[in-house]
Amino acid sequence: GCGSKDDSTGSGSGDGKIVLGFSQVGAESGWRTANTKSIQDSAKAAGIELKFADAQGKQENQITAIRSFITQKVDVIAFSPVVTSGWDAVLKEAKDAGIPVILTDRAVDSQDTSLYVTFLGSDFIEEGKKAGQWLVDQYKGKTGPVSIVELQGTTGAAPAIDRQKGFADTIAADPNLKIVKSQTGDFTRAQGKTVMETFLQSTPKIDVLYAHNDDMGLGAIEAIEAAGKKPGTDIKIITVDAVKDGMTALSEGKINYIVECSPLLGPQLMDVVKQVKSGGSPEKRILTKETTFTQEQAKTELPNRQY
Ligand code: AHR
Repeated sequence: GCGSKDDSTGSGSGDGKIVLGFSQVGAESGWRTANTKSIQDSAKAAGIELKFADAQGKQENQITAIRSFITQKVDVIAFSPVVTSGWDAVLKEAKDAGIPVILTDRAVDSQDTSLYVTFLGSDFIEEGKKAGQWLVDQYKGKTGPVSIVELQGTTGAAPAIDRQKGFADTIAADPNLKIVKSQTGDFTRAQGKTVMETFLQSTPKIDVLYAHNDDMGLGAIEAIEAAGKKPGTDIKIITVDAVKDGMTALSEGKINYIVECSPLLGPQLMDVVKQVKSGGSPEKRILTKETTFTQEQAKTELPNRQY
């Protein structure tokens, strides 16, 4: 302040504030909107100057944003990678510039883990396993084939890869449980609806829908109702996230089970940013705490749901 330049942060902001460059995936889902708000609110509360860039779902936009943060000499870069692969070059540029990078929400597949300080977010494989375990338990002791359709998240994104794997590995315990169709709905409501329409047209018997997020599940519910079927009854539905709209559908009986994925990563991210700036070394992997919800549990939790 007071016109005196303080270049100690190297950020050029001049007031000694930590400057954080954050590259967000986009605004594809209710989860993402809540995540963005959490990051913006907690930066403000922590007194951190946030440079926020929305990549609109495109990796090339994220790479451009990260390069621009490097040019601007921000203190720390954080980002939620849209897909897992293709980050080595730009992460190396950040490292060479001496700017620490924090992975938020989603992982990268870089072999060189020195390219980032830590990865803060959920265990998506565990989420897929929880979804699968619920289904295994539902059909325990029953006979006859169970026909499952799957709406995958964005192709190549960590949550799509891991939620598919955790689920498939777990339902393998019951040979009656079969995934008959699996396609991406890009984590959006609109594509969840469109893809579910094609599933309904091409597949005479669908017992279960597993959607990698609430939004795709909610889009699919519209398609199921339009086809004259009852979501949650004629077709059992499992989703991931537990945003307010998903929890509402769960409490109304249109979804049967939701595996929680918390978008509220902001406060933890700001703590890590401060830690990194003051020379500390956070854990290489920081896991988010999450639960699961049945229809009954959703009724209790819904009034407290902020997002
Ligand atoms: O990476 C987290 C996932 O991205 C959320 O589960 C999904 O809703 C979002 O788009």
